[in-house]
Amino acid sequence: MIDLSNKIALISGASRGIGRATAIRLAEAGADIVLNYVSSRESADRVAEEIAAMGRRVAVVRADVSEQSDVQSMMEFVGNEFGRLDILVSNAASGGFRPLLSATARNFEATMNTNVRALLFLVQAAHPLLERSLDRAKVVAISSHGSHMALPMYGLIGTSKAALESLIRHMALEFGDQGMNFNVVQAGLVPTDSTKMIPGADQMFDARTDKTMTGDRQLEPSDVADAVLYLCSPLSDLVQGQTLIIDGGAAIHI
Ligand SMILES: NC(=O)c1ccc[n+]([C@@H]2O[C@H](COP(=O)([O-])OP(=O)(O)OC[C@H]3O[C@@H](n4cnc5c(N)ncnc54)[C@H](OP(=O)(O)O)[C@@H]3O)[C@@H](O)[C@H]2O)c1
Repeated sequence: MIDLSNKIALISGASRGIGRATAIRLAEAGADIVLNYVSSRESADRVAEEIAAMGRRVAVVRADVSEQSDVQSMMEFVGNEFGRLDILVSNAASGGFRPLLSATARNFEATMNTNVRALLFLVQAAHPLLERSLDRAKVVAISSHGSHMALPMYGLIGTSKAALESLIRHMALEFGDQGMNFNVVQAGLVPTDSTKMIPGADQMFDARTDKTMTGDRQLEPSDVADAVLYLCSPLSDLVQGQTLIIDGGAAIHI
């Protein structure tokens, strides 16, 4: 049984999808939660209500993680309200699905800023709070198969995920001896608002049972949250700079 009682966890992009499932899972394990969102205030409030009903302390903070000043303000809030941070989950991402030939400089920058640079800003701003963690502090970033596989319309996002995984490894190298763990959860295809918008989504979801070795048991946001929970717990204290793949076996074969 993983017990995160008295831990304080911040999850970026926790109003929906995998971020929401992660916030709930960490709260179920006992953590107090800071929920970040950028536009879906009502959804974020609903998640907060679920968590408060468990008896956990919960705060909802609007911040665009691609904006350094927003991230800095969010961490100042965490410092003032909670005094430290034990767990940081960098989950928020965007980017849109588009062919590379029509990708503009603006598209490229927006994807990289939200999906990669945000992790750098989050860790820079959180570092003094993570240093005050009760035990080893845990930083987990959410990546995808696109970091090492080519997927239709996924060029920009896949590129950002490859950079994200490299950034985590370098953070592990630079700060891993300061009582902090930096790891990645790489998820397979999960039904969320963002994946419903992928061109050809229906066919991709239909093909999941052929790719995985888990029959009708297909990946849900809560499965990804379980992997994050492990990497946020003392069970993974010796796991450093790694990528944990949770996809039912989809990525090990053609
Ligand atoms: N779904 C999949 O199949 C899959 C597979 C592998 C990896 N992933 C990764 O898992 C993570 C979550 O994906 P998802 O499918 O759960 O996404 P989602 O349902 O589209 O939710 C995205 C979340 O990110 C937030 N967000 C977006 N841009 C933001 C910004 N600039 N600042 C702060 N928050 C922002 C959104 O907040 P608002 O609601 O306020 O807009 C929302 O909470 C992403 O990193 C994604 O790449 C997903």
